[in-house]
Formats: sequence, C-alpha cells, structure tokens
Amino acid sequence: MTCETSLVRVEAVIRPFVLDDVKERLQELGIGGMTVLEVRGFGRTGGRQEIHRGSAYVIDFIPKLMIQVVVPAERAEEVVEAIRTTAATGRIGDGKIFLVPIADAVRIRTGERGEDAI
Ligand SMILES: Nc1ncnc2c1ncn2[C@@H]1O[C@H](COP(=O)(O)OP(=O)(O)OP(=O)(O)O)[C@@H](O)[C@H]1O
Ligand SMILES: [Mg+2]
Repeated sequence: MTCETSLVRVEAVIRPFVLDDVKERLQELGIGGMTVLEVRGFGRTGGRQEIHRGSAYVIDFIPKLMIQVVVPAERAEEVVEAIRTTAATGRIGDGKIFLVPIADAVRIRTGERGEDAI
C-alpha cells in the first residue's frame, strides 16, 4: 500500500428521489465512477420529524441512499458542491456529505494504482 495518493471518497447520504439528478450532474463533471448503497439512518433532528407516526419517543430509521465517489482530492470540493446543490430541498432530512481520505485504489483488470485506477 503506497498511502501516497491524494484520493478522497465523497460519501453522500441523500434522499432516494434525487439520485438520478445527482448521477447526471456527476456524470457531467466527468467522474470516473460511483457506488450506490441502500441505507437507513437518522440525523441530528431525528427521523420522527420526517415521518409522524404518533409516537413522541420513537426515532425511526429513514430509508436513504448513500453514494460514494472516489476522486482526486483537488476535485472533492466541486463534487461536494455538485451533490449539495442538486440534493437540497431546504427541508429537514436533506442528508449529509462526508469526506474520507483513501490510502490507495487498484483497478483490478489492469493493476493500475492510485489516481490512474479511478
Ligand atoms: N452524524 C452522522 N453520522 C452518520 N450518518 C449521519 C449523521 N448525520 C446524518 N446521517 C445520515 O444522513 C441522513 C440524513 O440526515 P439528516 O439530513 O436528517 O441530518 P440532520 O443533521 O438531521 O439535518 P436536518 O436538520 O437537515 O434533518 C440520516 O438518515 C443518516 O443516514
Ligand atoms: Mg434530520
């Protein structure tokens, strides 16, 4: 493992219905690829404020999608802004974006490493 790449994984938890718009926006930016995971979670405001089921005490897990995009660090901010502006409705539960340093990447077919692999 080289640990000398400057790759960043942009992880965004988003509302499921914004996925297509976010995907199109990221394709326009020319990203190399993306991964989508079905997740459930809650944030600071708690899921109960998004879905009212009559209980004041239960915090529900709300279905969301997580998209993961690994990009060179110098592209991370434009990816964050593209996701943020496309995924925002202005209402609670719009989601969250995390940035994670990546030690290395390997393109399996070719053996390329680091930025060459993405
Ligand atoms: N601190 C966190 N750690 C891990 N996942 C989180 C965190 N905060 C939010 N999430 C994930 O993001 C999803 C959406 O969070 P959400 O937008 O509701 O955050 P919030 O802090 O409550 O902000 P808002 O006030 O806009 O609702 C959650 O369902 C959860 O999956
Ligand atoms: Mg919330």
